[in-house]
Amino acid sequence: MYKGFTLWFTGLSGAGKSTLSAQVAEALRKRGRNVELLDGDEVRTNLSKGLGFGKEDRDINVKRIGYVCKLLSRNGTIAISAAISPYKEIRDYNRAQIESYIEVYVECSIDELSRRDVKGLYKKALAGEIEHFTGVSDPYEPPENPEIKVNSEKQTEAESLKIIMTYLEEKGWIAKDNDA
Ligand code: ADX
Repeated sequence: MYKGFTLWFTGLSGAGKSTLSAQVAEALRKRGRNVELLDGDEVRTNLSKGLGFGKEDRDINVKRIGYVCKLLSRNGTIAISAAISPYKEIRDYNRAQIESYIEVYVECSIDELSRRDVKGLYKKALAGEIEHFTGVSDPYEPPENPEIKVNSEKQTEAESLKIIMTYLEEKGWIAKDNDA
């Protein structure tokens, strides 16, 4: 019987956390695992409604998600978080609270993110119209030793997905995929 764990995505807005985490969730469900995905934008419309983007509110948000992940993953579910989670101290706090914590850093440069600018937020942030915008007017502290690192600028989504699934297989968190 495989154990639950928490797969914690971190990275700038637009780096690809939501897309990639949704693909990982789907791949894991196909293999018969129970998965809950806590996506940053979605969490902010319910669990963390009303919180802003100052450090204090982000810390509350990220700790809340960590707490839910802890409860889920200790009961056999795979909990996936996809919030920016910009502060190392709070990610490390969650790491210490959660028994099986795997960090996935989704890397992408600000240059590329402002080119993509899917939500139009970088343009506004760079024009000084959004206070506390991560990576522009607010800090992002990249993980120093994430268990998994992917790069949405240099890899395709399929390649990044493969890196994550292979890591999980090799470390014995999930069964090997015999169909692959
Ligand atoms: S976190 O810092 O608390 O982890 P979270 O992942 O929940 O952030 O929310 C990030 C999303 O909120 C972004 O993808 C973006 O769509 C939106 N957003 C709105 N304002 C900001 C801001 N000031 N900084 C970053 N993201 C913002």
